[in-house]
Amino acid sequence: MQEKIIILDFGSQTTQLIGRRVRELDMFCEIVPYNKFPKNDPSVIGVILSGSPYSVYDENAFKMDLSEIRGKYPILGICYGAQFMAYANGGNVEPAGTREYGRANLAKFDKENPLFKGFDENSQVWMSHGDTITALPENFKVIASTDKVTNAAYQAENEKLWGVQFHPEVFHSVQGSLLLKNFVVDICGGKQDWSAASFVETTVAELKKQLGNDRVILGLSGGVDSSVAAVLLNRAIGKNLTCIFVDHGMLRKDEFKNVLHDYECLGLNVIGVDASEKFFKELEGVTEPERKRKIIGAGFIDVFDAEAQKITDAKWLAQGTIYPDRIESLSITGMVIKSHHNVGGLPEKMNLKLCEPLQWLFKDEVRRVGRELGMPAHLIDRHPFPGPGLAVRILGDITREKVRILQEADDIFIKGLREYMVKEADGSETALYNKVWQAGVILLPIKSVGVMGDERTYERAVALRAVTSTDAMTADWAHLPYDFMAKVSNDIINKVKGVNRVCYDISSKPPATIEWE
Ligand code: XMP
Repeated sequence: MQEKIIILDFGSQTTQLIGRRVRELDMFCEIVPYNKFPKNDPSVIGVILSGSPYSVYDENAFKMDLSEIRGKYPILGICYGAQFMAYANGGNVEPAGTREYGRANLAKFDKENPLFKGFDENSQVWMSHGDTITALPENFKVIASTDKVTNAAYQAENEKLWGVQFHPEVFHSVQGSLLLKNFVVDICGGKQDWSAASFVETTVAELKKQLGNDRVILGLSGGVDSSVAAVLLNRAIGKNLTCIFVDHGMLRKDEFKNVLHDYECLGLNVIGVDASEKFFKELEGVTEPERKRKIIGAGFIDVFDAEAQKITDAKWLAQGTIYPDRIESLSITGMVIKSHHNVGGLPEKMNLKLCEPLQWLFKDEVRRVGRELGMPAHLIDRHPFPGPGLAVRILGDITREKVRILQEADDIFIKGLREYMVKEADGSETALYNKVWQAGVILLPIKSVGVMGDERTYERAVALRAVTSTDAMTADWAHLPYDFMAKVSNDIINKVKGVNRVCYDISSKPPATIEWE
């Protein structure tokens, strides 16, 4: 049985981060809404309560029945989680004089407490709270304080129940991972048995059992998630998996051919469908971004469906959905459940059951699993690429000629990123490509004057876009070396017929977005 930590989500923005930190300790964990604790699950070994946008005394604050977990599992409350447990047990929580946000130091802490094993004096922690615990319940004792916050951490006497006002999951809490390790490993007794190898082994065994001799269809996009899902399924059920890879004509230069080749080398049973003609026809003259996306989305489903119908005995549709796609998230306005279907509506339409083997993994774990499965690095380390492809990078209407220009320019930029090596502090080298989250070229809907040889030109402008990010929710423009940009600009203007000007997009997200459309 895969033992696990349950993280009860009270709606904090850092709940997912708690999950990631626990997984980094090679411990399996699940994030569940605060009021959906899985009772009677023997694999649970400990519980963490997250932060929340609410104050405990708010009328609408998220509350749970602590008797479901208290005395049954070791518990760690973080920020609101700590305040809630103190408040619910008769302590006092009040608005702090000033909202405390940022770095603080644990000026005093109980060195004997197992939660702080190995902690340094004055360890830096990250605070982000408007309320403070002004009085602890009777049988709770303070185990750490900062200059400003007396009850920065507490433990219920003779109980495995802790609360911390700071955020150990945040990078700026320097020994935050150590605190989580002390809780998860020492206190809860976690065996740290969650690894890519163990995931592959158990998942392949489960898939064999779940799918038996059934036929499964999977839509490949060329991206990391669907590719890893396919290789995993292939290991479990081999030729009973049929993959469908649709070319809508808006992929990167030679991508359809190259990726199809990669898939075949991996032993996948893939049907490649070149449907570009249909998409170019339907997109003719369309300039409105949302309409372009809709046409491509609907067209994709049509093509996929038509292919899938040919596999008459298929029972399952597999998808590369990953954990962040489906975590039930809470918002201040109430429950918001993120529903996610990569090929929306298809399972119902085709009367297929859904199989999502990566549904518990974070992105970095998907990559680890891919490596474990022996997939080539260039497939695993690929940048994210939007489903509608280059269509969202061509402003205005889409033509084959524009796609060709963009593919050529994009190819020079991406190859350049892969070839340019950056020296690391330890003397090793990393390709610039792996230093950025995502990169691409945008074709602008303008022409401008230039000069080539003795001739005046009037041609297109393109913008290079490269960003750093951890989750695409926020992003900064990548500070690419000038010599690299100079070479790429020169190569694009000299080699791509139809372009005479290259710009670099230096907008961050927000307020801009990564894609231009
Ligand atoms: P934005 O432009 O919103 O992009 O900052 C955030 C991330 O999402 C990708 N993206 C898309 N992916 N279909 C997709 O599958 C889309 O329509 C789409 N639009 C943006 C984008 O490439 C970035 O990684």
